[in-house]
Amino acid sequence: MSHSSSPGSEILFDVRHVTRRFGGLVAVDDVNLSVARGECVSVIGPNGAGKSTLFNLLTGIDTADQGVVRFAGEDVTGMAPEQLAARGIARTFQHGRVFGNLSVLDNVLIGAHARLAMTRRGWPVVGACTEVLRALFGPASVRREDAALRDEVVALLARFGTRLAPRLQQPAHSPVVCEPPARRDCACARVASADPAAR
Ligand SMILES: Nc1ncnc2c1ncn2[C@@H]1O[C@H](COP(=O)(O)OP(=O)(O)O)[C@@H](O)[C@H]1O
Ligand SMILES: [Mg+2]
Repeated sequence: MSHSSSPGSEILFDVRHVTRRFGGLVAVDDVNLSVARGECVSVIGPNGAGKSTLFNLLTGIDTADQGVVRFAGEDVTGMAPEQLAARGIARTFQHGRVFGNLSVLDNVLIGAHARLAMTRRGWPVVGACTEVLRALFGPASVRREDAALRDEVVALLARFGTRLAPRLQQPAHSPVVCEPPARRDCACARVASADPAAR
């Protein structure tokens, strides 16, 4: 594991004794790691070392046999991917999948969807209906929030270089944008827009 950047002292993400067994094979063996606010941590290792399994465990794709994961002081062990995504914890996959008919901007905005105030009502049916109504009628508060998020995503995409920035309104199936490097940028920008620090 390698650490870089200038972290703050506050531990945001804390992984303790996480273990995953497949029959007799211990794919992830008592892993401990912590990520401070603003810190960048890499997990490295040879093929079969257990990196993908670890990421699956930390993003709710798979369930650990043992261990505890905390995010911002909350125990998030065993939460589903959508519950983790609502907290800004998400992963990309190597295939770099995008929604071909959506623009680059909309593809990335999907990652920030759970940050919208209207998606965080917490009421099972009423919350969903309210979200649809607010999206349909678009009151000023919703439009303001949407515009702020779009500005933020445009700034975020500028950090990914020149491949996507001039093509934000193009559909993801269009030339250049549909190529694997651009799709990977798009997928990385999408998870970055989930922004755990925004909570
Ligand atoms: N679903 C699974 N069932 C059984 N064994 C698995 C499963 N997923 C991964 N493994 C095994 O766990 C080990 C770690 O795999 P993986 O996490 O994919 O490693 P890495 O991503 O570091 O290359 C490997 O030996 C792999 O064969
Ligand atoms: Mg792997």
